[in-house]
Amino acid sequence: MIDILRNRRSVRQFTDQAIEFNKLEILKEAILLAPTSRNIEPCEFIVVQDKAMLKKLSTLKPHGASFLADCDTAFVICGDTSKSDVCVEDCSIAAIILQLTAESLGLGSCWVQARLRDHSDSVKSEKYIKELFDLPEHMLAPCVIGLGYPAAKKEPKTKEDLKFQKIHKETF
Ligand SMILES: Cc1cc2nc3c(=O)[nH]c(=O)nc-3n(C[C@H](O)[C@H](O)[C@H](O)COP(=O)(O)O)c2cc1C
Repeated sequence: MIDILRNRRSVRQFTDQAIEFNKLEILKEAILLAPTSRNIEPCEFIVVQDKAMLKKLSTLKPHGASFLADCDTAFVICGDTSKSDVCVEDCSIAAIILQLTAESLGLGSCWVQARLRDHSDSVKSEKYIKELFDLPEHMLAPCVIGLGYPAAKKEPKTKEDLKFQKIHKETF
């Protein structure tokens, strides 16, 4: 696990190589293994591979989402607010587990933040996603994870990059 954490970087450029079926199955298994508050399991996931839909998804906000148009697969992470009041936390945990599992499989990934972001002056990013995928009103779509084979290897962060001073002993 520590090697996966050391090597993971956000990847926004991908090759044309498709993610294999068995790797997609492992990714699906991983997100369903994610812990959730009170074991309620309020998260649902939309696996998007259709190029036209990826393109639409890539406009969920003006900046920081465009790479989704060129990824192989995107997972839209959804949370059911009628089941849990902390589904944002549950969604975030599922999202990072997806990213770490992707890294372990030799895949690259990047998070796209939708919650609290704007698609346009009048439409929130989450609302845009909800309309795109016909999500019911009580479902959140706080983030999207874009995945694929990395076009280039990014340098891992070094131990010197890490801000150990942020870790406090006994009191702040
Ligand atoms: C909560 C969260 C939201 C993020 N939102 C975006 C985003 O909308 N677009 C994007 O390109 N990257 C996004 N990222 C990726 C970060 O920019 C990236 O993790 C950070 O710059 C550190 O780089 P690294 O992942 O390569 O270590 C997000 C990451 C997190 C954890």
